[in-house]
Amino acid sequence: IKRVTTHTLRKMKHDGVKISMLTAYDYSMARIFDDAGIDMLLVGDSASNVMAGHETTLPITLDQMIYHASSVVRAINRCFVVVDLPFGSYQGNSKEALQSAVRIMKETGAHGVKIEGGEEIIESVKRIISAGIPVLGHLGLTPQSIYKFGTYAVRATDEDEAKKLIADAKLLEEAGCFGIVLEKIPAQLGQRVSEALGIPTIGIGAGKYVDGQVLVMHDMLGINKEFKPRFLRRYLDLYEVILGATRSYIQDVKSNDFPNENEQY
Ligand code: KIV
Ligand code: NA
Repeated sequence: IKRVTTHTLRKMKHDGVKISMLTAYDYSMARIFDDAGIDMLLVGDSASNVMAGHETTLPITLDQMIYHASSVVRAINRCFVVVDLPFGSYQGNSKEALQSAVRIMKETGAHGVKIEGGEEIIESVKRIISAGIPVLGHLGLTPQSIYKFGTYAVRATDEDEAKKLIADAKLLEEAGCFGIVLEKIPAQLGQRVSEALGIPTIGIGAGKYVDGQVLVMHDMLGINKEFKPRFLRRYLDLYEVILGATRSYIQDVKSNDFPNENEQY
């Protein structure tokens, strides 16, 4: 199997081949996604929400991200694995940012890190890249700044914020990022950014004119019952599937149907 690299991803943009990405947080799911042929897996700090049950991504720690990421890396043969630097592990201090990124690379075997923000964190981005660690940018709705935004609504709907986003994207490209995630922005802006850059853009709620798409696995598989933003396409209603299986199991145990003669020693 030929592994996906930053070079592969850039070539995919150049050739007009869309990049597929999902989040993963554990060995068993990562194995299925990799077997299916996903190009990239993101060990997102959305683990804070979907794995740990926190309301935001802010509480998850670097140690917890490393636990999830090392589990994912053990499962994969082909895809490119990126790990989110969690809130508080890179902002403001580029030396600390590099230390956090180095820990992720050393302790998980992942292939790169993702950082939220543009100009504000550009020194951290440069320092990490100069250590030879691939960095994926993340602009638009950046959930670690949710208390600054005050809302999960679409970002950059006005021209000022759109211009800043394009400027940030160019800064990240110049700093050496191998790609940029664009979250919850107008499709037109997603297109403008993608056309302005040589590196691939990966959208989530950023429309169809970007170079790839990423979804949170729990959303895409329908494990989250309530979360139904407009940008989400659900490929399964796994909540109902698991609910039904669990009810059948409970019933079989209660009725003494399980285990039967063939299911015992
Ligand atoms: O943490 C995450 O899942 C993410 C994606 C939504 C891009 O950052
Ligand atoms: Na994230």
